[in-house]
Amino acid sequence: MSVDLTKLPNPCYVLDEVKFIQNMEKLKYVQDASGAKILCALKGFAMWSTFPIMKKYLSGCTASSLFESRLCFEEMGRDSHACAVIYQENEINDYIKYNSHLTFNSISQWDALKGKVLKNKKKVKCALRINPEYSDVDTAIYNPCAPGSRLGITAEHMPKHLPKGITGLHFHALCESNSDSLERVLEAVEAKFGHLLHEADWVNFGGGHHITREDYDTDLLIELIRNFKENYKVEVFLEPGEAIGWKTGFLLAKVDDIVEANKEKTVIMNVSFTCHMPDCLEMPYKPAVRGASIAKKAKHVYTFGGPTCLSGDFIKGFGFDNALKVGDTLIFEDMMHYTFVKTTMFNGVNHPAIGILKSNGKFKSVRSFGYEDYKGRMS
Ligand SMILES: Cc1ncc(COP(=O)(O)O)c(C=O)c1O
Repeated sequence: MSVDLTKLPNPCYVLDEVKFIQNMEKLKYVQDASGAKILCALKGFAMWSTFPIMKKYLSGCTASSLFESRLCFEEMGRDSHACAVIYQENEINDYIKYNSHLTFNSISQWDALKGKVLKNKKKVKCALRINPEYSDVDTAIYNPCAPGSRLGITAEHMPKHLPKGITGLHFHALCESNSDSLERVLEAVEAKFGHLLHEADWVNFGGGHHITREDYDTDLLIELIRNFKENYKVEVFLEPGEAIGWKTGFLLAKVDDIVEANKEKTVIMNVSFTCHMPDCLEMPYKPAVRGASIAKKAKHVYTFGGPTCLSGDFIKGFGFDNALKVGDTLIFEDMMHYTFVKTTMFNGVNHPAIGILKSNGKFKSVRSFGYEDYKGRMS
């Protein structure tokens, strides 16, 4: 049964449950075949209404803050893994409550907090985040291994042996990467930290594994993990975020106005790039819009712009065979990851609703937003 999209709330982030389950199945396959445990990185995908499905397939979640840790603990009912750049001293006991594994970003953070961590009745497993100083990631703001990076400890600053109380190592060096990139990162990790890997019980390979992308080489990933586990006798964790929500849904929007200046037609939408699709401007990339073609060949070419005051809240070059008109529905593809975890209410623009197209063909509204959400964040 197909749903009439014009009848759904608009704007709305719509998760396609069937596609989400397909991603979960692929991740579970990798988990089972490799022996690694896969955690959902909540920074990329934190739609907790999907946790009842997710927990059937994945091992849990990884958190970059106390709030994400708590979300996993309370809504998935599992201890999460945390990898935060900083743990505040007054929060560390709560981190211990919500997490089974804690990764420290520096020796100084570990030294400052190890007393509290080791004294706690609950025994959490602790790791240090290492920086292999190698990454294939070209986009500067997404490269955690760029020279001078604050993320992770370089080999030069690591002690000769793992400090007492540290049983794991964690690295994160990928972004939208295939497994051949992981292979090269592993070579760097082994060359620089091999002696410490032999002392570790567990290693977290971070995120950036684009496992659910069609051309992803899962066989190589599985082989790399198996070999690594065998060589170092360690438990391996992966914590992808983007791969969880990859191509599992869209942002439903509409045309509110069409303006023209210097022969350029701009569609004013009821959604904004800066508020609701921030990676389009930050990465930057041009999102796929259903029915739109390459602008050069199209009869009608539009710039799409948001309703905010930010001059740069637009993307050019969306082509259509038929002219768009006010009220038309727009569908921005693949908008489930790194969208509503990053959105803002800048300009007081309302937040799109969130819903699920269920596998039975029915639409389920999960959340809508309003003035109180905006007001609640201000003082
Ligand atoms: C430490 C860490 N783990 C996991 C992830 C998730 O990465 P991705 O969503 O690219 O898979 C990130 C992303 O920034 C990260 O910094």
